[in-house]
Amino acid sequence: SVMREASGIDVMEAQLKSIFQIQKVVIVSGDSDETPWVKTELGRACASSMKKLIMGKNIIAVTGGSTMAAVADKLTPDFKSDDLLFVPARGGIGEEVQNQANTICSKMAANTRTKHRVFYVPDQVSNEIYTSFMKEPMIKEVLEIIRSASIVLHGIGDAITMAERRKTDAKELEKMRSENAVGEAFGYYFNEAGEVVHKVLTVGLQLSDLDEIPNVIAVAGGSSKVKAIKAYLQKAPSQTILITDEGAAKGLLKGY
Ligand code: G3H
Repeated sequence: SVMREASGIDVMEAQLKSIFQIQKVVIVSGDSDETPWVKTELGRACASSMKKLIMGKNIIAVTGGSTMAAVADKLTPDFKSDDLLFVPARGGIGEEVQNQANTICSKMAANTRTKHRVFYVPDQVSNEIYTSFMKEPMIKEVLEIIRSASIVLHGIGDAITMAERRKTDAKELEKMRSENAVGEAFGYYFNEAGEVVHKVLTVGLQLSDLDEIPNVIAVAGGSSKVKAIKAYLQKAPSQTILITDEGAAKGLLKGY
């Protein structure tokens, strides 16, 4: 549109796509840190990208967080397909209920009048629990559904913000600080080079599974997430579609 051209948003989208070598970038106006409704716009932009992408049967794996919750709020039944299944990408019990992937998936299914699966697994598990959970037939079944997803929808968080939100203990937090963790996605913590410096043991989608997923939609905005988004994008899969806001986009383009 004329508005987008005048504000240079189209240019920024093309620049970010080329710098980070990803499939597509969509930028909404404003900064969600300063103006809360910009997060609603991120949700709307994600819903619109999903509509363009989705035809026929789709399994959509979804992570938690307030941004994913904003996406759920903006989904409507007018998709080209009613054969959609929303499933949590990983265990998420422990976070606030409205930000848990189970809650978000159930809302996504209700708003699109499609289906969802629940995955009642904690956000972080011990080695013992992990090993025994992996033997459970119910868990195995959901894991197979997750791995066969055609779309992954996920948020990106600031590392320390996410670690504190997950009530990570002081020792681990200190270790993450010393290793310069700046970004988080799927329970993985990244430094500025995009290297994994810490990982929460969790049942569900692993970073290495992303290569097999045809479309990965990352939704994250706000100037406070610049370092986090940049870190994640260093090694993000090339099929990534980034939905972000102007506040983050301007920061991401600094120095280029
Ligand atoms: O897992 C959580 C996301 O990475 C970020 O959460 O959307 O609430 O900032 P958020």
